[in-house]
Order: sequence, then C-alpha cells, then structure tokens
Amino acid sequence: MSNSYKIITYGCQMNVHESEKIAGMLENEGFTPTEDTDNADVVVLNTCCVRESAETRVLGNLGILKKAKERKPDMKIIVCGCMTQADGAAEKLKKRCPFINAILGTHNLYKLPELLHDKAKKTRVEITQEHGINENIPIVRTSGINAWVNIMYGCNNFCSYCIVPYVRGRERSREKNNIISDVKRLIADGYKQITLLGQNVNSYGNDLQEKNENFPSLLRDLSGLEGKFRIKFMTSHPKDIKTETVDAIKESDKLSHFVHMPAQSGSDRILHLMNRKYTAAEYMAKIDMLKNKLSDVGLSGDIMVGFPTETEEDFADTLKLVSSTEYNNLYTFIYSRRSGTPAASMDGQVPITDKKRRIRELIETQFSIGNRLAEKCVGNTYETLCAEYKNGKIIGETNCGKAVTFAGDANLIGQFVNVRITENKNSKLYGAIKNE
Ligand code: SAH
Ligand code: SF4
Ligand code: F3S
Repeated sequence: MSNSYKIITYGCQMNVHESEKIAGMLENEGFTPTEDTDNADVVVLNTCCVRESAETRVLGNLGILKKAKERKPDMKIIVCGCMTQADGAAEKLKKRCPFINAILGTHNLYKLPELLHDKAKKTRVEITQEHGINENIPIVRTSGINAWVNIMYGCNNFCSYCIVPYVRGRERSREKNNIISDVKRLIADGYKQITLLGQNVNSYGNDLQEKNENFPSLLRDLSGLEGKFRIKFMTSHPKDIKTETVDAIKESDKLSHFVHMPAQSGSDRILHLMNRKYTAAEYMAKIDMLKNKLSDVGLSGDIMVGFPTETEEDFADTLKLVSSTEYNNLYTFIYSRRSGTPAASMDGQVPITDKKRRIRELIETQFSIGNRLAEKCVGNTYETLCAEYKNGKIIGETNCGKAVTFAGDANLIGQFVNVRITENKNSKLYGAIKNE
C-alpha cells in the first residue's frame, strides 16, 4: 500500500508547529513525507484566516488539488486549521469543494488518524466548539535546531479586528510540569533553541489553579535547566508584559534578548477602537523599560494600517511610534475585514488606495530605521547560534534576535560562536567568527 503525505501550511508559528503534530500523527499511521503533492496519497491543508489573502491562497490551492485528484482519484484531501473553524466556513467549503474528504476544526485535530481510514465518499466534517488541551499528540519536528513548544492555546483578548479568539477558543495554559519535561527532553535530544508559543505568553498561568504560576516564574524555571541552549518566546501583548518578565530575561544567560511586541497602531483613538487596552504612551513606556533593562534588546512588532476610520493624523501617529520605538523588524499589514468581528461592521472602512499608500510609507520609514540600526551593529560582537548552512555560509541568530551570515562549516550548526559584525548591506548583517 502506498502511503505518502504532504502538508501545506499557512499562517503563524502556531500553525507551523501544529503541522509538526499532523506529521506526527500521519507517521504514526505509517505514512511517509513527500514533496510531490500531485502524487501524494494524503494532502493536508493547514489553513489560516487572519486576513482575506490567506484564505484566497487556500482556495487557490484547492483548485489545483481538485485537478490533481481528478488524475489520482484515491488521493485524500483533508482541510484543517483556523479557516475551517470560522462560523459557517466548513459547510461553505464542503459545498464549494465536494472533493475534500474531511474538514477538521481546530479543536478536532486529534481525530486525524481516524479519518485516514474513513472510506465514505462524502466530505466528513468534524467541528466542535468544545476545547481543552490534548497532551498526547506525537510530533515530527522540522525546524532544525529550533523546537517550538506551546505553553498556551487560544486567546481572551478579542481585539476588534481579529478572528483568532473565535477560531482558537479561550486561553488554556499547559501545566508547567508538562512544559518543563518537554523542554528537558528536547535539550537532551540536542535542540539548541526552544521557542515558547502563545498568542499572549504574558498571560500564561492566569487560568491555572496554582496561584503562583505565571510567565516570569516559568521563564525562571526553564532557564534553570542544565545545558547550553537558548529560550525565545512570542507573542507579548503590550498590556500584559511585566517588569518581572524583563528581569527574568536580564538575570538569565539562556533567555534571548529579543521581544516581539506588536503595537498595531500609534493612535490612541484607533487603539481604543481596536480594543487593545493601552495608549501609545503606555506602549512607549514598556519599550523604554525594555531598552533600559536590556541595553542590547532586539525588538520586533506588528503594525496594521487602514483600520476603520483611520485618518491621516492617526497614521502620522503610527509613523511617530514606529520611529521612536526603533524596531529591528516590523511586520506590516493592511487591515482586512473579518466577518464576525466587531470591526467588520464599523463605519468608515478605509479605501484600498489609502491603505496601500500608507503601507508603502510605513515600509519605507521602517526600512531606513532598520538600516540605521543595522549600521550601528557593525563592529559589535554577539554570541550567535549557528542555525542554518547554505551555499558555504552559516546563517546564525544573535542573542538579541538578529540574523547574521558568516563563513563556516556545516558542522558548526547547533553551536554557539562569537561573531563580529563586519558589514551591513541593505539591513542584512554579515560577520566573521571571532576566535579568542
Ligand atoms: N496574538 C498576536 C497576534 C496574532 S495575529 C498579538 O496580539 O500580537 C498576527 C498579526 O496579524 C496581528 O498582530 C495583527 O497585526 C495582524 N492581524 C490580525 N487580524 C488582522 C486583520 N483583520 N487584518 C489585518 N491584519 C490582522
Ligand atoms: Fe488577535 Fe488580539 Fe488575540 Fe492577538 S491578542 S490573537 S491580535 S485577539
Ligand atoms: Fe495563526 Fe492564522 Fe490561525 S495567524 S492562529 S493560523 S488565523
């Protein structure tokens, strides 16, 4: 019996990691990976619906898969991930693409093995709103020396533009002991970087019974584990990041000095409409706290342009916030109307031409900031984790989250070396290993 599989992943790191769980379940059932999608026995689409563009790409790919299935009728097509969990989405998908074998909601992923053996001709739909935590899903890791570890699932914040709370359910924190034993095992297996995942890692533990379970104490416990490795985490909601978290980073030699803290906007009026629960001044106070405590901190963030009613003045406030923050990396998005969210029915939707002009201006502003910051790194030496070997060069990550390319052998992968930055080319850093 042939039994190959291909997973196509859209969306955030959560989904990338979830695809590692899908691979784990498929390999447990005897399936082996293939890159040849057209001839795969099982194709899984792990979808995202955070913006319309993500959904359009999924639908485009389903069109291609329909043709592949006409040539290979026994191909099983399974669609899972956030897009399937949105209100009414699974039924719509089933009508539009009856060739899909199964549609699985975000809380039903564990049912995948059962569906592989389902011989029914009709699309099977498994969607539920009930959610907990499933600890026993096997994982096939595909991210090199880095291992993703979920510390929590879901989101309680209901930012007015965002679909995530509707498709991922309420916040659920994993038991600390389970996280610690996962991390111990990963380090024993040779992983050098552990990235803790949650939509809002700073609210870790709020839903657990034990009173003193919180994010800073989790960070302290993890950085007390034996071995040479690095811990990163994302995402930090600005309203929830605490001084104690930054103190935990400062006191540990294992925690990366890199923080991803999305601002979304620099206008207080827009931030209020977004239900973000902070002002631009409060955001800047957190940035100042980070910079004061960690002098070499690396910052990244998300900014959205064209939220309903955003004016040129609001956008100017965003540019001001971006300039004062000085992000090393900025992810920029055009607001996309997500049905079912409060912002979708707000008056004052911004014309696409204005959205496009604003995002262009934002990207230009960030490019010169990023380039100036990169220029300042030249001459500095950073502890760098060798992550990838490509065309005779190593791509590493510094202890403050900067990517740097330098000469080195493939056998350095997974090692920590000191790298001196020698050049900045259009915000890309190049360096050389510094031998003491
Ligand atoms: N939990 C994370 C974000 C997850 S979604 C946080 O709160 O920071 C990743 C990013 O997608 C968000 O930060 C936001 O900038 C963007 N995003 C979310 N919904 C969007 C929408 N409707 N349109 C455009 N961008 C959106
Ligand atoms: Fe979405 Fe806001 Fe939750 Fe992030 S914190 S996932 S932006 S609702
Ligand atoms: Fe991630 Fe997209 Fe879902 S950003 S949480 S995969 S909607």
